[in-house]
Amino acid sequence: QIIPVILCGGSGTRLWPRSRAVKPKPFLPLVGDTTLFEATLGRCPPDDGFAPAIVVTGAAHLPHVEDQLAGAPDARVIVEPAAKNTAAAIALAALRVPEDAIMLVCPSDHHIADCSTFVAAAKTAAALAEEGWLVSFGIEAKTPETGYGYLKRGETIGGSGFRVDQFVEKPDRERAQGFLDAGIYAWNGGIFAFRARDFLAELGAHRPAILDAVRRSVEQGVDDNRRFYPQPEAFAEVKSESVDYAVMENTSRAAMVPADMGWSDIGNWQSLHEARDRDADGNVAIGRVELVDCRNVLVDTDGPRVSVIGLENVIVVVDGDEVLVTTAAGTQLVGKLSGAVNQ
Ligand code: GDD
Ligand code: MG
Repeated sequence: QIIPVILCGGSGTRLWPRSRAVKPKPFLPLVGDTTLFEATLGRCPPDDGFAPAIVVTGAAHLPHVEDQLAGAPDARVIVEPAAKNTAAAIALAALRVPEDAIMLVCPSDHHIADCSTFVAAAKTAAALAEEGWLVSFGIEAKTPETGYGYLKRGETIGGSGFRVDQFVEKPDRERAQGFLDAGIYAWNGGIFAFRARDFLAELGAHRPAILDAVRRSVEQGVDDNRRFYPQPEAFAEVKSESVDYAVMENTSRAAMVPADMGWSDIGNWQSLHEARDRDADGNVAIGRVELVDCRNVLVDTDGPRVSVIGLENVIVVVDGDEVLVTTAAGTQLVGKLSGAVNQ
């Protein structure tokens, strides 16, 4: 059985004003009626070879998590005393499952259009994990995105998987363009499969201090029914580092399964616009909206009626008393607005 480990940490400031510190991105119904967190849970149903999920989250997000876990009574929650990035978050879960368990690490803030391809890729990845590989999901690289990790495809393993000859997290623009031109790099989808003991061995080999502090926080932690609280002082010593830098760039056991599953990390309003159902003119209208002679316009309002005439490639978001108006290119900079920073 595969144990889904759902990571719920970041704040998603680039989706301001809809995503705010009080209600961040995973807990919003951004694509369709379910929230990204609920959709992540729903992709790993217990009747399809998946064990009940483990959610790793911070105290601030706990009320949202509990709310949205209503349909998953067997799920367990690990409540981080502080946010120490993904190496530590995954290590917490790895130390709470049987050492031979296969973990499927899932970010809670992605959209995946094709669930059956996701499940098939998860099973292929789990089979490779049984052989000791640390498996990433490879997404076809389409642009020289600098916010992603890049996987260099090596020899074929286990039928439909590949060895990863090089894992480069967040390259600069020039390197990212080089990877794209080379044609043998995929984006890292941020979803991983490995056996708990293999992950812990690699973390111990490359970041022994992180493993040591997380292990102490787990040994001295408190179990409260289905919640687990790691010991805060020990956890405070953990260096904040992502799994990509701490483990995946360094391990020689990295593999990947290509997964063409309509993946989007919904990083900004532009990618959200693309993930949503657009009409024949490329427009998306949510809430009370009237569009006349518009193309590629996204309007999303939770209150006031919004009317737009004769615009192209424009995004308008109304959330309570905040209004955002930007172009497709401008959506990259939303996280820098003072409103988004101060939320
Ligand atoms: N519980 C917990 N605690 N979750 C965390 C923490 C933490 O301290 N930090 C981050 N997360 C969660 C986020 O909520 C998200 O779901 C996931 O872990 C990944 O973290 P991000 O901060 O969003 O990572 P990223 O987008 O910069 O990069 C990762 O994802 C890319 C794909 O979207 C990397 O894996 C890249 O290589 C990858 O391409
Ligand atoms: Mg992300």
